[in-house]
Amino acid sequence: MPDWLLYTGSRRTHDGVDRLPPPPPWRAFDGGPVLPAPSGGSGNTHQATTYRPSDDAVQQVNAALYLRRPLLVTGPPGTGKSTLAYAVAHELGLGPVLHWPITSRATLRDGLYQYDPLTRLYAAGREVGGGPAEDEDIGRYIRLGPLGTALLPYGRPRVLLVDEIDKSDIDLPNDLLTIFEKGEYEIPELTRRAEPDAEVLTADGSGGAPTRRDGGPGGRVTVRGGTVRCSAFPLVVMTSNGEREFPPAFLRRCVTVELRQPAGEAELAAIVREHLGPLAGEGEDLVRLFLRRAGGGTLATDQLLNAVYLCRHADATDRRELADRIMPYLAGAADDD
Ligand SMILES: Nc1ncnc2c1ncn2[C@@H]1O[C@H](COP(=O)(O)OP(=O)(O)OP(=O)(O)O)[C@@H](O)[C@H]1O
Ligand SMILES: [Mg+2]
Repeated sequence: MPDWLLYTGSRRTHDGVDRLPPPPPWRAFDGGPVLPAPSGGSGNTHQATTYRPSDDAVQQVNAALYLRRPLLVTGPPGTGKSTLAYAVAHELGLGPVLHWPITSRATLRDGLYQYDPLTRLYAAGREVGGGPAEDEDIGRYIRLGPLGTALLPYGRPRVLLVDEIDKSDIDLPNDLLTIFEKGEYEIPELTRRAEPDAEVLTADGSGGAPTRRDGGPGGRVTVRGGTVRCSAFPLVVMTSNGEREFPPAFLRRCVTVELRQPAGEAELAAIVREHLGPLAGEGEDLVRLFLRRAGGGTLATDQLLNAVYLCRHADATDRRELADRIMPYLAGAADDD
């Protein structure tokens, strides 16, 4: 394994990220005071500890970490694009993945923070004197989103999963890149106050009452001067199923990797074993069946996992037929299959 690789795909947690050299001068950020690493696992332990990345994926994750650039992960459904983010967070001990699922309605502002003025007004109305006072705890009504939290000045990179960015509205990718270039954003609801410092909620919270003040789960963090600026640039994993082409200017600012379906029987069988333990003859038959069928159209690895699991437990007379039914083509089915 080459020495420069911090993430190796070993599936065991280690402190390799401490060897990450300082950023290139054009990607250095000086936010602070530096926050401690958040506690907790990646948030998806089974997926994270069973993932077998391709050599390409390992290399490009490391390139993104070194260069402090977002990683754009493309590939067909079920090739492990989203899981890659959890696997890296688990191996490098980078804490809970900040998951931002993208829809056509997602805006940059949703990812950065949400401000809840109605609850604030309601709370103020119950106080003597009516409207909110200038010195009230406005931070209680500001919750940072996954993107906003990832850009807090953590000493170690957080992992931000911008999932299915190709589903977004046309402007979001470029808006995102502007933020990633600057490594900071402003919260105007704070900057226009006489006292712009505030203790806001983070995306790590469970949604309940905030109890901790260290940036950990359920935590609140102090935003100084109404501006959030990162320290360690987050590892941003953006996934895409290819529903959209991205402009060259966008691609230039990303590290890219394309994931593929495992091509060979050995590779596929190893993935199934990671998830479901040793494979008996029947499981091996299903792997071969999957590979034959995959030649005729798009199938996803998790369809094979489902088939192996089900055939192991279901009391079916014709398991081949059962497997066929839970491995329908996702796209490009051959006519004569
Ligand atoms: N290389 C791999 N090693 C182990 N498991 C894998 C691998 N690739 C995919 N899987 C498994 O296949 C399933 C699908 O993975 P995942 O959801 O990450 O795919 P995806 O590319 O994000 O799919 P989609 O495009 O539908 O969002 C998961 O259960 C994952 O654990
Ligand atoms: Mg996915």
